[in-house]
Amino acid sequence: MKKELLQYFYQEPSQFFSGEKLSRRFHCTRATIWKTIEELRKEGYQIEAVPNRGYRLLSTPDRLYPHEIQARLTTAWAGRHIQYHSRIPSTQLKAHELAKGGAEEGTLVIAEEQTGGKGRLGRPWHSPEGTGIWMSLILRPKLPLEQLPRITLVTAVAIVDAIRHELRRHAHPLPPETIRIKWPNDVYVVLNPKERKKVCGILTEVNAEIDRVNYCILGIGINVNQKAQDFPEELRHKATSLALSSGAPWNRVKLVTAFLARFETLYETFQQHGFQAIKSLWEERAFPIGTPIQVHIQDQLVSGTYQGITEQGALLFGHPNGQLEMIHSGDVLV
Ligand code: BTN
Repeated sequence: MKKELLQYFYQEPSQFFSGEKLSRRFHCTRATIWKTIEELRKEGYQIEAVPNRGYRLLSTPDRLYPHEIQARLTTAWAGRHIQYHSRIPSTQLKAHELAKGGAEEGTLVIAEEQTGGKGRLGRPWHSPEGTGIWMSLILRPKLPLEQLPRITLVTAVAIVDAIRHELRRHAHPLPPETIRIKWPNDVYVVLNPKERKKVCGILTEVNAEIDRVNYCILGIGINVNQKAQDFPEELRHKATSLALSSGAPWNRVKLVTAFLARFETLYETFQQHGFQAIKSLWEERAFPIGTPIQVHIQDQLVSGTYQGITEQGALLFGHPNGQLEMIHSGDVLV
């Protein structure tokens, strides 16, 4: 009911709706409408009530409530079930638990704060309260195991597109092309070749048997509204938030719904037509060809250049002598 009521308010913002009209629309009593309005107010929604005119939504709280996300959602399955936590050790762990219990594809676990956020390669992921998007999406891909690393690449495209979409929609003074992917799964804000900072990380985890994928958990952390002092000292030179880079706060709910919509489309394209349908989209959004990078090859840090990706999604690393090497997993330093 909260979701439906919000959806109705959002269709005509700043409009008054009488209790009678709402009760007719939702086939319930005016007391039920009043009770739902009270519940929303307790959650931080500012709703004005004027005699003879009705209710009007004045403002929404900066929270990732499921009904708030779902009121704006345009997807068929991604995010249709949402489990919300104000504080949790890790949405990733919770999503594994739900997936093992049979949760449907598209179920989303989202939190305001993580106390034990997990990054790639066993690193911690700093997830302070109410500032970022910390979420894990349950997927049940009908794909062979070796195809799964490409889901990370598909996700990175969807994240870049969602961020760029919001930048354009709200005319943020940050050019959309500054949002770029670093292989395989980091999203950066690149202000100039010397000033580039990570704004989002993706952690894809798979539960599979030798011949069967049971499920996959797509963990996404986006730094949205942190201020510089919200980052630990050791991260400040390499991490940023969208608000810090654009100079204005962002609406996290709109970013989540923009991501889910774009991801659903791209993931379906990927499952139906394979990675070749996504490859060029990924390359257009990646760091430019020729960007100097460093990679670990047999425990040695080697300097070279980024030379694109293969049809399988592997990194093409250019050695200084011109030789090309395929890198299938690992970390890239820029
Ligand atoms: C990386 O190392 O870049 C990946 C970071 C992934 C962080 C996200 S936040 C939501 C989900 N829950 C976690 O504990 N980790 C992922």
